[in-house]
Amino acid sequence: MSVTKTLFGKMPGGEEVHLYTITNRSGASASILDYGATWQSMRVPNRAGELVDVVLGYDTLEEYRKHTMFLGSTVGRVANRIGKSRFTLNGVEYKVFANDFENCCHGGREGFDKKIWKAEAEEDAVAFSLFSPDGDENFPGSLSVMVVYSLTEDNMLSIRYFAVTDADTIVNLTNHAYFNLAGQGSGTILDQTLQVEADFATRIDSHILPTGEIVPVAGGPLDFRKAKPIGQDIESTLENMGFSHGYDHNFVLSHREGGMERASTAADPVGGIVMDTITDQPGVQLFTPTDFTGMRGKGGIEYGPRPGFCLETQHFADAMSHPDFPSIVLHAGEIYSTETVYAFRVE
Ligand code: BGC
Repeated sequence: MSVTKTLFGKMPGGEEVHLYTITNRSGASASILDYGATWQSMRVPNRAGELVDVVLGYDTLEEYRKHTMFLGSTVGRVANRIGKSRFTLNGVEYKVFANDFENCCHGGREGFDKKIWKAEAEEDAVAFSLFSPDGDENFPGSLSVMVVYSLTEDNMLSIRYFAVTDADTIVNLTNHAYFNLAGQGSGTILDQTLQVEADFATRIDSHILPTGEIVPVAGGPLDFRKAKPIGQDIESTLENMGFSHGYDHNFVLSHREGGMERASTAADPVGGIVMDTITDQPGVQLFTPTDFTGMRGKGGIEYGPRPGFCLETQHFADAMSHPDFPSIVLHAGEIYSTETVYAFRVE
């Protein structure tokens, strides 16, 4: 196992951005930027033994600075939407930045994905730290965050998230990697299969905001209880998929609260790469962007239609508006700690 550090680019003010690559004995590797603590690449073997990069991303800092789709980003303080861009905590109403209709999505004007994190390399891991001051994006409390990426010899990439605050606040961190298990830029993910350990999902409205209803997936397009091609029901208009143009839905994971369990399994039947997602989070957001035509990723490859899928493990969106959703409040002195593992294998 080794970790290398290379210069990736410079911010307009001259600050350097680095790419850290963790490589295991078999040659599989994960690369992460200190800009946004961004998962930039994941090279794992397919059935033929060739290393395939299964996450979408860019080759340059300029592209990451311009992009708005959170490719591989660490998202925070609060992933996904805060309805009407306001929430009440301890009787005080906080107004955050509306960047998605009237709602706040993925942290506000300048979320954690746009910050340069402080990196520390270990033997098989890189730890990224960020200090988000009191009032950052109008969120209360000074928040110290750490995100640790580590790779195992058997191709499991673990992302551990930690945070502490000096005053009560809200936190919901995730990673926004887009996966294509046949390789980034290799075409659509429509024939790749997905199975999700969820009998229920949170219903969305026309702005992809939860209505508060928790609905059974049985028989509908959100039914991934048995593995099916991601494309099978992607054109459905049920469950407001006409507004999300594909999947942009949170699944209520069946596993016991806080337990580290398999949430989903995705597979590319052709190349044979399989990815299990294992998490202690209560939900996972499946997001399948419609079309990245005109967008060129690593190696200058045009991504085109349906180029990837995200499995963003997290607490449910707009949790502050729905007291029956698992809470995203982090109290002063408490430790926020959560882990998601993306485990790659071949079948
Ligand atoms: C959200 C989408 C959004 C995308 C890019 C996803 O996590 O659920 O609604 O368009 O991120 O911001």
